[in-house]
Amino acid sequence: MKRWFKYIKPYLLFFILGPLCMIIEVVGEVVMPRLMASVIDSANAGTLTQASSLLTMAEMIGVAVLMMAGGIGGAWFAAKASVNFAADLRSDIYGRIQAFSFTNIDKFSTGSLVTRLTNDVTQMQTMINMMMRMLLRAPGMMIGALIMAFSISPRLSIVFCVAVPVMIVSVSFIIKTGFPRFAKVQEAVDGLNSTVQENVTNVRVVKSFVREDYETKKFRTASGNLKKSAISAMNVMIFMEPVMTVIMNATLIAVIIFGGRIVLANDGGLTVGELSSFLTYVSQILFSLMMVTFMLMFSSRALASARRIAEVLDEKSEISDAEAQEKDKKVTDGTIEFKHVSFRYFKNSEDLVLDDVSLTIPDGATVGIIGSTGSGKTTLVSMVPRLYDVDAGEVLVGGVNVKDYSLVNLRDGIGMVLQMNTLFSGTIAENLRWGDENASDEEMVKYADFAQADKFIKTFSDGYNTELEQGGKNVSGGQKQRLCIARALLKKPKILILDDSTSAVDTATEAMIRKAFREELQGSTKIIIAQRIGSVMDADMIVVMNEGKITGVGTHAELLESNLEYREIYESQTGKE
Ligand SMILES: Nc1ncnc2c1ncn2[C@@H]1O[C@H](COP(=O)(O)OP(=O)(O)O)[C@@H](O)[C@H]1O
Ligand SMILES: [Mg+2]
Repeated sequence: MKRWFKYIKPYLLFFILGPLCMIIEVVGEVVMPRLMASVIDSANAGTLTQASSLLTMAEMIGVAVLMMAGGIGGAWFAAKASVNFAADLRSDIYGRIQAFSFTNIDKFSTGSLVTRLTNDVTQMQTMINMMMRMLLRAPGMMIGALIMAFSISPRLSIVFCVAVPVMIVSVSFIIKTGFPRFAKVQEAVDGLNSTVQENVTNVRVVKSFVREDYETKKFRTASGNLKKSAISAMNVMIFMEPVMTVIMNATLIAVIIFGGRIVLANDGGLTVGELSSFLTYVSQILFSLMMVTFMLMFSSRALASARRIAEVLDEKSEISDAEAQEKDKKVTDGTIEFKHVSFRYFKNSEDLVLDDVSLTIPDGATVGIIGSTGSGKTTLVSMVPRLYDVDAGEVLVGGVNVKDYSLVNLRDGIGMVLQMNTLFSGTIAENLRWGDENASDEEMVKYADFAQADKFIKTFSDGYNTELEQGGKNVSGGQKQRLCIARALLKKPKILILDDSTSAVDTATEAMIRKAFREELQGSTKIIIAQRIGSVMDADMIVVMNEGKITGVGTHAELLESNLEYREIYESQTGKE
């Protein structure tokens, strides 16, 4: 509760004024039938034009105007409060997701995060809006109408002793059956969002594999699940209205029969006007019960959503720099040391993804890492900018444990081109300036040139102002890789990590990139993960990895001599025996 109050507090005034306005409306609703009764009775008695009746009518108009003001105010404040609440909550969830480490992100599916950010927040918003308008109104109306009804005719009010329990029992039965079904609906929305999200982001792959049919089937299944669960929930709710209408009308008939008798007895027990206002109170009482049930139903859905949102808000970022010892330290020395590093993605699995890895990379060195897929290359370099944290051992940069840098300083010092990298919608220049917002045009061109990107950028008619599509889909794979490298270079990082980042670049261009690294980035430590031996052959040091272990470290010549695996890779790639 305390958590949610944070989002209520800035709009507390709205949250208070809204229900207050609704009270005005309720009072009006309860008083009105009473005034009406007296007008009907004076019409019956033929005294409609007397001053007292005219006064009552004027009162009715006054009450109506007040009710209108209350109703409008209540709706306005409720809308204001709920929309603002939702907006703040949404931006907090978004902020939380931004702070997630890779481990956190692995835990939630993207589709489910999107549902939580949109649909679940909307559920809460709707609930708040409704609560503000009904929470006081429903019980207020019920109590007010009951008091009025009793004051008109205690005898007739006995009907409530039957009607209200019948209503409560049947409604609770419906709700109890309905609740679990609503939870299922929310899960199905999740499933649908995940499917759509995956398909739409990867629509090109889907098409190239001619998997549209399969994907359409998958969508149909997810959509069908949603339909089924929604219908099953609906089937229960369908009964709600008819059941209530039957109970309501049965009660009204009972009141008319018994009340009519009393009126006809004409002993002053009940007048026609009083009977008509009594009927209105009956509707009000049963209607407010209905409101309470709807409120319960909605709030149970919203509570499920609140729980899902809380999960995201409570998710502890696995990686934080709260305990960093040297927060002000920047990466000025590019020495990297892995000391007995072990790691696994699933903390309860047996197999280590990195198994007691130790390695020292000197400042300014160029290091190649080679090894079969799945051998742990990507995982190893992810430890340096703390995309993941080691389970055992430690990683030092410039002699300082990476956990002792602030995350900003650490990551500012490291340029990493991920294996599956992406560009964002916007111009090429905007994308490159992710590396350094304040880079001058000359600087940008210089680094793009190092990455061998300048030449092809200039062939575009808009040059650096060419608009990229989401994910950089309108440039070729090799061009995208070069833009990603240029973006990382523009950070002027002390440590540059390229994870298989030139796989789609032809060997001649790749050689030029390597040459630029060698000549222009002498002060930076460069780690290059590659599949082709040619990409790492001239490195100062080559690391061979296999099944989470380092099996060889040395220069090309040394490894050819001493490392069987390296020699096999070399021979398979060059065709030499
Ligand atoms: N995010 C992840 N969650 C779970 N397992 C992963 C994840 N990333 C990689 N792995 C597993 O860890 C092992 C090493 O992967 P990786 O470091 O990517 O290898 P490489 O880069 O050498 O191909 C593989 O078995 C892979 O399946
Ligand atoms: Mg990899």
